[in-house]
Amino acid sequence: MIAPSILAADFARLADEAAAVSGADWLHVDVMDAHFVPNLTIGLPVVQSLRKATELPLDCHLMIDDPDRWAIGYAEAGAVNVSIHAEAAADPKRIARDVRAAGALAGLAVDRDTPLEPYLDLLPEFDTLLVMTIKAGFGGQEFIPELLDKVRLARQHLNSGHLRLYVEVDGGIDDHTILAAAEAGADVFVAGTAVYGVDDPGTAVEALRGRAREAMDRT
Ligand code: DX5
Ligand code: ZN
Repeated sequence: MIAPSILAADFARLADEAAAVSGADWLHVDVMDAHFVPNLTIGLPVVQSLRKATELPLDCHLMIDDPDRWAIGYAEAGAVNVSIHAEAAADPKRIARDVRAAGALAGLAVDRDTPLEPYLDLLPEFDTLLVMTIKAGFGGQEFIPELLDKVRLARQHLNSGHLRLYVEVDGGIDDHTILAAAEAGADVFVAGTAVYGVDDPGTAVEALRGRAREAMDRT
């Protein structure tokens, strides 16, 4: 699945920017609080408004402190997936249970410097694992290929445990890096700059999907 990140879109025209990628699978919404990450973006009211302005499923990536308090609101607002950061959550299991009970998929995100191993046992509680391929906080950063080791580890772990989870990559995904990410075992690809930084975001989504399929067919 391709999930364009509206972090790279024009925030004054979000409904139009969503319409420009109507062929995408999910619309990725980066919520940042200037605490968990230095940057500040958008929150629940914008997600509630967006929900009414587009048919695209909203994939909310919460880069915030205290997701224990806030995550459920995004699920109740109609997000398809709510990802919380492992580094920020006090009780990730409980959050996952609440988010699922509110009708959304539950996602666990791991930032650049966070190893995956301590969280493998938690994965059965979740539907999505979001592996950052940059340091969370800003768009337009360069992809870090070494972080795909976490995607490989996740894929191995899921296969051996017969677990079904989306493995999402986020950060620096473009026509080239998506090949390596797909080969490593990712199946949801977030792209901000590579979609909204070009003239035709809709065509960029199709191109990314084609590249991901190419890589998946090879593996
Ligand atoms: C950054 C966000 C990403 C960001 C990716 O912390 O989580 O979703 O939008 O942007 P690009 O694709 O430009 O790296
Ligand atoms: Zn994100």
